[in-house]
Amino acid sequence: MAVNITGRSLLTLLEYSPEEISFLLDLSAQVKRESRAKVIHRRFAGKTLAMIFEKRSTRTRLAFETAFAEEGGHPIFLSIQDIQLGAKESIEDTARVLGRMVDAIMFRGYKQETVEALAKYSGVPVYNGLTDVYHPTQVLADLMTVQETFGRLRGVKLVFMGDGRNNMANSLMIGCAKMGMHYVISSPKELKPEESLLRTCLEVASETQAKIEIIEDPQKAVEGADVIYTDVWASMGEESKQQERERLLRPYQVNDAIMKSTGKRETIFLHCLPAVKGQEVTFEVIEGKQSRVWDEAENRKHTIKALMIATLL
Ligand code: CP
Ligand code: NVA
Repeated sequence: MAVNITGRSLLTLLEYSPEEISFLLDLSAQVKRESRAKVIHRRFAGKTLAMIFEKRSTRTRLAFETAFAEEGGHPIFLSIQDIQLGAKESIEDTARVLGRMVDAIMFRGYKQETVEALAKYSGVPVYNGLTDVYHPTQVLADLMTVQETFGRLRGVKLVFMGDGRNNMANSLMIGCAKMGMHYVISSPKELKPEESLLRTCLEVASETQAKIEIIEDPQKAVEGADVIYTDVWASMGEESKQQERERLLRPYQVNDAIMKSTGKRETIFLHCLPAVKGQEVTFEVIEGKQSRVWDEAENRKHTIKALMIATLL
């Protein structure tokens, strides 16, 4: 059956089937080929996209804004300093007004409930551009990069090192479970993923033959890994935890020794970026031969454009 996701939001990625994710990844590859061939369409002509930012962004803003504008659409950047959102006006009311004026909404901020409320009350597709708990558009780019490298997702072993309860660890767990991958979180016991999300992902994994493991010992966790992934030790909004995280996560730094411990020369390194070199990853690894972080960053744009084409047209 043909996949049709017109009108859909992307809030967690749990709401998408493996077939729908594969469809988005195939479309992303097509969008990338068109971009390389300098084929310009006007697929978003006459459309508007509201982009609400409570937190800072380089890649996500650029990906949404350039992808939408180069297809003839009008992206509107709305920082939280510029609009009423939950302070003077309720999120529900703002959502209803946005829904009358724009074709889609991107939200980056703190609470997952905010992006869910925007979707519920606006009536237009809403894209989660990162919340405290999820970062689903990043995972589309990560899956695309893995697929480009290995030609497949099924059975690929991806190890996430570090803060095992942050938005990236959570969203990668969902993405890997959906696509039948082998996902390992390597983190100290203080930073394990939430039990309820782990249970949900294990249920998904039982349907897709994915494997999900939590392994505290970093050397053991990375054995046989195809992909080593890490992220900042203190996410946006958690700056006060920086010192404690440095203490807890130092053994989980991705360095040459960790890359060698996979026992595979083909292992690649991924990071959603921005990276704090010298903390979660060494300069040598992120700048080294196994690093694919710049392809991964570029793929943000292709996957986000594909997502908007699939949900808006
Ligand atoms: N990876 C990512 O979301 O980057 P930005 O914070 O720069 O958007
Ligand atoms: N975990 C990081 C991801 C940044 C893209 C953060 O939330 O700050």
